[in-house]
Amino acid sequence: MRTVMVTGGCGFIGSNFIHYLLKNCDVKVVNFDALTYAGNLENLRDVEQDKRYAFIKGDIADAAQVSGALERFEVDSIVNFAAETHVDRSILTPDAFMSANVMGTQRLLECARVYWSLAPGDKNCRDYRPGVRYIQVSTDEVYGSLGMEGKFCEDSPIAPNSPYAASKAGGDLFVRAYCETFGFPAVVTRCSNNFGPYQFPEKLIPLIIYNALHHREIPVYGDGRQVRNWLYVEDHCSALCRVMREGTIGEVYNIGGDTEESNLNVVRTVLRMLDRPESLIRFVADRPGHDRRYAMDYTKLQGHTGWSPLYSFEKGLERTVQWYLANERWLETAADQEFQTYCKMMYT
Ligand code: NAD
Ligand code: TYD
Repeated sequence: MRTVMVTGGCGFIGSNFIHYLLKNCDVKVVNFDALTYAGNLENLRDVEQDKRYAFIKGDIADAAQVSGALERFEVDSIVNFAAETHVDRSILTPDAFMSANVMGTQRLLECARVYWSLAPGDKNCRDYRPGVRYIQVSTDEVYGSLGMEGKFCEDSPIAPNSPYAASKAGGDLFVRAYCETFGFPAVVTRCSNNFGPYQFPEKLIPLIIYNALHHREIPVYGDGRQVRNWLYVEDHCSALCRVMREGTIGEVYNIGGDTEESNLNVVRTVLRMLDRPESLIRFVADRPGHDRRYAMDYTKLQGHTGWSPLYSFEKGLERTVQWYLANERWLETAADQEFQTYCKMMYT
């Protein structure tokens, strides 16, 4: 049985991915997570007793911790979700993004290179243990912003606009360099905005739900007409499984949904689903460097693997809202003191 190390597995997409793997694949899973403010062990409570699952608290930027886990669990695949992920926080503290997303990724790559190499001391060795594979979970934000027309392809220029996007681009390009220089067996995926269960309430969709449930105003940046290419998280997980099995080493694959929605439409739709009034909408100052529109061309992935998203935006959103309503305790616990202080500082 293969052993997959999921870094950042206590976060939003990582925890959904672990659930997806344990349900759909015959693999063992090692969840390696530093438990930052965004990491939540509650997300995995229901799989804690599964004999195929183990949790290790560790930082991808700590080589000793990473190498120890790779050796102890005889890891043959790594899917790297571990990152600082919120654009607004990257404007407040860019250095944390540099450490986790650039330096952390490079350390993780180097530990995996040494552990999997057939001649670890020889940097010219391009031979690795059979079947090993590294997946870097990158983002559409590395491409920067689109105008009204067009979509990002894998060969679109890398032009990040926020410190978050720049740090993700740094990590993403380190993976490319390891493939080119060391023949390292890696694949990069770049996905659009996800939504679904277990998303931390700082992000737009759970923030709308949290604020609406508390009859608080919903802050909409600028004119609210920025467009995102929303993808239900389970579709991202199924795409990553396809890439793990069928992706070509050294390639980049875009992952995206078919839905382009303005932020204002998203807010209105969620308020309608929760039966809350549009008078809760409050237009606030725009985010500096705010990307106007993202849209992904994912025909390369579709052509190579046959993957397509299964959820429409409406269907995914309905499931997401129902999940938050059924898990209000999770939401209240996630929205802890640190989050309340962050919101006060950001929005008042
Ligand atoms: P998240 O913020 O919910 O979770 C991040 C997780 O990484 C947390 O559990 C945190 O504890 C952990 N972590 C942070 N720094 C770490 C470190 N140095 N070592 C080990 N663990 C660390 O993030 P998410 O939304 O689930 O995103 C996961 C990944 O997917 C990120 O790499 C992100 O850039 C990428 N991505 C996210 C989206 C999206 O819409 N959320 C879209 C495309 C790509
Ligand atoms: P977010 O969930 O932070 O994801 P990203 O910045 O990675 O796309 O934001 C999604 C969109 O919603 C983005 O255009 C910014 C906007 N937004 C608001 O208008 N108000 C908010 O309070 C937040 C958090 C986001």
